[in-house]
Amino acid sequence: MTSLHALLAQMTLDEKIGQLVQLSGEFFLDEPQLTVGPKAKLGIAQAVVDNVGSVLNVSGAVKTREIQRKHLQNSRLKIPLLFMADVIYGYRTIFPIPLALGCSWSPALIRQCCVVAAREAASAGSHVTFAPMADLVRDARWGRCMESTGEDVFLNTQYVRASVEGFQQDMPTQQGLAACVKHFAGYGAPIGGRDYNTVELSHQSLFEDYFPPFQAAIDAGCEMVMTSFNTVDGVPATANPWLLKTLLRERWGFQGITIADYAAVKELIAHGVAADEQDACAIAFNAGLDIDMKTACYANGLKPLLAAGKISERALDDAVLRVLRLKQKLGLFDDPYRGVTPEGEQRCCYHPEHLRLARETAGKSLVVLKNDRQTLPFNPATTRVALIGPYADNPDIFGLWAVYGEKSRCTTLKTALQEAIPDGNLCVTPGCDLLLDYGFLGEFGATHQVEQTRCLTDNERAQELERALDYARQADVVLLAMGEHMMQSGEAASRTDLHLPRHQVEFIQQIAAVAKKTVLLLFNGRPLVLTDVVDHVDAIVEAWFPGIEGSHALVDVLSGKRNPSGRLSMSFPYANGQVPVYYNALNTGRPAHQSDHSPRFLSKYLDCPNAPLFPFGFGLSWHETRLSDLHVTPRLLPGGTVMVSVAAHNTSDVDGLETLQLYLHDCVASIARPALQLKGFTQVMLAAGETQVVHFEITPHDLGFYDAEGDVRLEYGRFRAFVGLNSASLLEGEFYYAES
Ligand code: NOJ
Repeated sequence: MTSLHALLAQMTLDEKIGQLVQLSGEFFLDEPQLTVGPKAKLGIAQAVVDNVGSVLNVSGAVKTREIQRKHLQNSRLKIPLLFMADVIYGYRTIFPIPLALGCSWSPALIRQCCVVAAREAASAGSHVTFAPMADLVRDARWGRCMESTGEDVFLNTQYVRASVEGFQQDMPTQQGLAACVKHFAGYGAPIGGRDYNTVELSHQSLFEDYFPPFQAAIDAGCEMVMTSFNTVDGVPATANPWLLKTLLRERWGFQGITIADYAAVKELIAHGVAADEQDACAIAFNAGLDIDMKTACYANGLKPLLAAGKISERALDDAVLRVLRLKQKLGLFDDPYRGVTPEGEQRCCYHPEHLRLARETAGKSLVVLKNDRQTLPFNPATTRVALIGPYADNPDIFGLWAVYGEKSRCTTLKTALQEAIPDGNLCVTPGCDLLLDYGFLGEFGATHQVEQTRCLTDNERAQELERALDYARQADVVLLAMGEHMMQSGEAASRTDLHLPRHQVEFIQQIAAVAKKTVLLLFNGRPLVLTDVVDHVDAIVEAWFPGIEGSHALVDVLSGKRNPSGRLSMSFPYANGQVPVYYNALNTGRPAHQSDHSPRFLSKYLDCPNAPLFPFGFGLSWHETRLSDLHVTPRLLPGGTVMVSVAAHNTSDVDGLETLQLYLHDCVASIARPALQLKGFTQVMLAAGETQVVHFEITPHDLGFYDAEGDVRLEYGRFRAFVGLNSASLLEGEFYYAES
């Protein structure tokens, strides 16, 4: 066991500063490297590279071992490198995107996925993952919806806690990763949904909706926190002492490492809060930021600032110690390679158990949004199926942040269906282009060049349409596999129009007009506006970007082998102009319903309902559940419990997993309270025809809320309690919280 203080005492200033600098792969390897952000010349001396503390997004046993070996040769004190990577929803075994995971309503499942992702990445030499992303999102224009688990703080908090526990579970045995929760804070609420844009959130909302998942991560022992690109109160998060010191360290007791997001320290200049790189270095460091990712600000700035007395040596030592402490926790001083070998990596990645979990998770994350005329499931042995659409035979269903995913290992929907449907009963064709132009998508790192740049010619387009119409006429069921290009969501993928592209909509309408039954299968990374297609098709399955086993999972569901149970964790807007639309909004003084005012003067649109097309919590299954007999204990005393019970009847002849959701509303409070707030949920397996009485407990803890100072207020009075299968259809009761 290395004494870190003794080590620190031997370190030169350059060696200390190096620990606070993170560089990417091209500084260490000659071959082209993965980049996941803008490329810029940094202006960093080789001496800095030799002393650097951590590396961004280099992975693979061979590469990490090689870099570590070379580094240790140059490192006077043999301080190993930390390898940090974006292992967001899988390393090689790619799980569904986080927004899909959010729809599973299963923190336990997410925890398992994170355990697996960490094992695979650790076997490939990674030490830290830049995950989980804990940003709450209410605006579907923001491309990073796909990385969030959704619009609800209660759900997100549980997911983030489970993710941190999962990633870090096997850290002590060298098979886990340290987690880095991100992006602190408010990043999910950029104005206009435009990525990296300014955020204007009240402190009350920050405390109530945006901070709790971060606090939960820290309570779960999360080792690192990444700052966000945006401002909070006009101060960029990367140089915000209120966030980094007052909240994180003093209030929440965080002892781990803070790191800037990619190039965010230098971006303080563009924000207009720093005059130059040295200034940026000073304000970020003095605000409490430990590691500078991918700029030269710390590398070149810390030394002169120290000499000028503008930063303290004590603060520098503290930050360096935090980095060394993590290296020690990860076991790197004992074995800088952490037992990593190419053979071990090969054994671990794509392990059959991991793939099984990926299939199970994808099956639990997709959401059935519509199913009329008993269209789904269908019997694959006897049904003639036409599979049409740009996603019919397309392995690009990982989503943007699967940076280590290998598409070549992904089964397409066509192949998965061929395994289930007898020869001659399945016709497949793309039918139309995914997009009519790919140029605007730009580039996202070395592994994600846009490959699909060619569109159909006019001739080919006409032929494809004819073929698709022909297949559609002959089939019993048409599956239309449509959606977003994977680069249309994710980082730097904000959109103002959330409809499917016009040509896809027209195509869907044309096919549906001749088909006996049409099922729309959607591959996308954000809620879409489906108002223009919903009435044309019989069924809609939101598959999201479902990952490596997504096609198999989809076939499991379509064929009835699996009864779907996914429920939306983010509302699907009715129209673009409604965004942001989310279930837990305040009532306003002029609620659209329950107001005495004449209709014109209510909080509503003239041209669109207030409600989303598909609400939070919504999803269909192959079984049907009816709720009845809600009972709520009428009185809650301090230290006591309110019991809520409801009868759940499975009225169908299919067994199914049902998600019962508990919401509360505080009728009168010192701060206006949301019309509904999720406060609990439970998943019950209901056998065909079975009735179960389901119980929830409410304690005073569930009634508290944050004020703008971040203090919890717990107030006596009347509360409404709701139980339902989604946020728009609820049984209602009430109780009083009283002093005696
Ligand atoms: C920028 C992204 O915002 C962040 O989420 C990611 O972890 C870093 N780049 C590193 O790749």
